[in-house]
Amino acid sequence: MSAVAAASAAYIVAGLLFILSLAGLSKHETAKAGNAYGMAGMAIALAATVGLASRSITATGLTLMATAVVIGAVIGLWRARRVEMTGMPELIAMLHSFVGLAAVLVGWNGYLSVEGNAGEQTEVADNLLGIHSAEVVIGVFIGAVTFTGSIVAFLKLSARIKSNPLMLPGRNWLNLGALVAFAVLTVLFVIEPSLLLLAVVTAIALALGWHLVASIGGGDMPVVVSMLNSYSGWAAAASGFLLGNDLLIITGALVGSSGAYLSYIMCRAMNRSFLSVIAGGFGNEGAAAVDKDYGEHREITAAGVAELLGSASSVVITPGYGMAVAQAQSAVAELTRHLRDKGVDVRFGIHPVAGRLPGHMNVLLAEAKVPYDIVLEMDEINDDLADTDVVLVIGANDTVNPAATEDPGSPIAGMPVLKVWEAGHVVVFKRSMNTGYAGVQNPLFFRENSQMLFGDARERVEDILRAL
Ligand code: TAP
Repeated sequence: MSAVAAASAAYIVAGLLFILSLAGLSKHETAKAGNAYGMAGMAIALAATVGLASRSITATGLTLMATAVVIGAVIGLWRARRVEMTGMPELIAMLHSFVGLAAVLVGWNGYLSVEGNAGEQTEVADNLLGIHSAEVVIGVFIGAVTFTGSIVAFLKLSARIKSNPLMLPGRNWLNLGALVAFAVLTVLFVIEPSLLLLAVVTAIALALGWHLVASIGGGDMPVVVSMLNSYSGWAAAASGFLLGNDLLIITGALVGSSGAYLSYIMCRAMNRSFLSVIAGGFGNEGAAAVDKDYGEHREITAAGVAELLGSASSVVITPGYGMAVAQAQSAVAELTRHLRDKGVDVRFGIHPVAGRLPGHMNVLLAEAKVPYDIVLEMDEINDDLADTDVVLVIGANDTVNPAATEDPGSPIAGMPVLKVWEAGHVVVFKRSMNTGYAGVQNPLFFRENSQMLFGDARERVEDILRAL
């Protein structure tokens, strides 16, 4: 078998492993196997690509490539081992920005080695030059939008910049203008490729990516993260066309389409328009958070919560980002076992965007060995909350905010939330009266049936366990 045929066969195997990986990642039970398929696929893909490249590049080129792989692998391992679960979203956003940057560099390299290399012999036939130029300019555009969009997402998710939407005057016209300019410049570039045109397209795309994500408010960030995931896939596919690499096209299309579908599911879960989010918050006038006086909140002690739980027959726990920060999942699982042993009906209500990653809470609870069958989705539990004795809100805030359903002026208006306030008693575990990710105050904390248990969630749950 020739090297090219061997590489093609390896690419097909890698492509199949990536499909198995996506299928595995769609369920908690098979997620680990899904990850293993993905890693195996990537190892095969890398080996096949290096093997194929080694036939046509010099020893120096090969050494450079091997060095890059080793440096990348060391940095990747180091970061992956050190990252906290709560830091995953920003790490993912940062990784998406690398894919975008790589697509820009591949596009520029494509231009410099073909169109910008006038008079020299190139691998692209004259009659295919137009297609090559279109691939260059589209790849650079998608890559640059992904690059800066992901950097803004990284900055927002890591709280290095505010998550409020940027509201430039005429922002929708700015986005539309950038798209029209891109279309016109693409045509001009295909007719007559030039370095200046490519530089202008790159600059427009960098600004557009920045603006699209900056214009999206905190509550919509989950959709933005999955949307950038999708963009990074399309950027990789565009690079695949340029490099003539089938596996990159397949992988890019898989990531692009699964990311787009995830964004669509999340938009539906959050009652947001998909088009509005991908168009940088189009049609959303970006209601600003207004400080309202909701009255006084009431506090409770861990011993008081233990007493409340002692007389409850049904308990629902709604975890949020604060549970991840406090690493309270094991203590929460212990509390759950204790209450269930006493015959209390304990269930979990999981909001689709609780935490900072899709499935964030499910992963933490699975890690703490909470049985899957008592972990319910928001839609499965919402109607039961009115008949629940006690709801423990552990480090959740935006996902249990009644303003989303009751205040049309709220920045999170329309987002479905867990209706915990309908329960008999609500205990909110958090450290202060600070707002959640969306920066909106939560009227739940001031309701008659709500009590605040201040402090680190893990310490407070352990206090309750001791009191029980
Ligand atoms: P948030 O609204 O972010 O609120 C988390 C709460 O946890 C905060 O109010 C904080 O209050 C509390 N907290 C933090 N550390 C704590 C600790 N050690 N112990 C006890 N409490 C602690 O959480 P949520 O309800 O899970 O909502 C998620 C938000 O993130 C949504 O707005 C969502 O749109 C956004 N988001 C989600 C995703 C995905 S995909 N899930 C991605 C990006 C953004 P204190 O500071 O007072 O303790």
